Amino acid sequence: MSKTVKKTHLLLFATGNIHKIKEVQHFLRDYPIEIKGVALKGKEIQGETVEEIAEFSVLQASKKIGKPIFTEDTGLFIKLLGGFPGPFSSYVYKTIGITGVLKLLESVKDRSAEFRSAIAFCAPDIDTVCFLGTSSGKILIKEQGIHGFGFDPIFEPDDGKNKTFAEMEIEEKNRISHRTRSMRKFVTWYLKHYN
Ligand code: IMP
Repeated sequence: MSKTVKKTHLLLFATGNIHKIKEVQHFLRDYPIEIKGVALKGKEIQGETVEEIAEFSVLQASKKIGKPIFTEDTGLFIKLLGGFPGPFSSYVYKTIGITGVLKLLESVKDRSAEFRSAIAFCAPDIDTVCFLGTSSGKILIKEQGIHGFGFDPIFEPDDGKNKTFAEMEIEEKNRISHRTRSMRKFVTWYLKHYN
């Protein structure tokens, strides 16, 4: 599809994260959908899965806004740590940060990890739906790259040609990222239901 696709749908994206908005906007270049970020105050619940967190958040957002809206929750699941930080990724990033995560993995050989992105959508006329996208890779021993956000500088996706997400421009990250994969599922579903 071309880059000049006419935008015929407007979707609200409940997030205050400018990086997520940019990635999603870039992903949507080929679709007739434009988004508007809505930063809502409210605490993120603690849940066992990113799907649970995204579904809870979107319900809260939908109650406040009263219009169709979607949200996205990501977690970094490190195999050797039993999936930690997983649904606690935001808290871990804010507290011990990347340095702390690298410390936890000091002299660890199996550094396999996975990003999981859950997109939940809610509208007055339907039950909440949720879509999962993943990206598997490994945690490096030090930060590499200046792009992206969050844990990007230490995560090297398997299909990323030995580069971390932070060593990629949005375009490259978006070809293989967890968020692109969950968005693709969501948008496919959305356009079938709302066209
Ligand atoms: P959130 O709860 O979805 O906002 O994200 C949980 C944590 O993971 C936050 O610290 C984010 O900065 C980080 N994070 C979310 N998405 C990504 C990503 O695509 N790459 C790297 N880190 C991310």
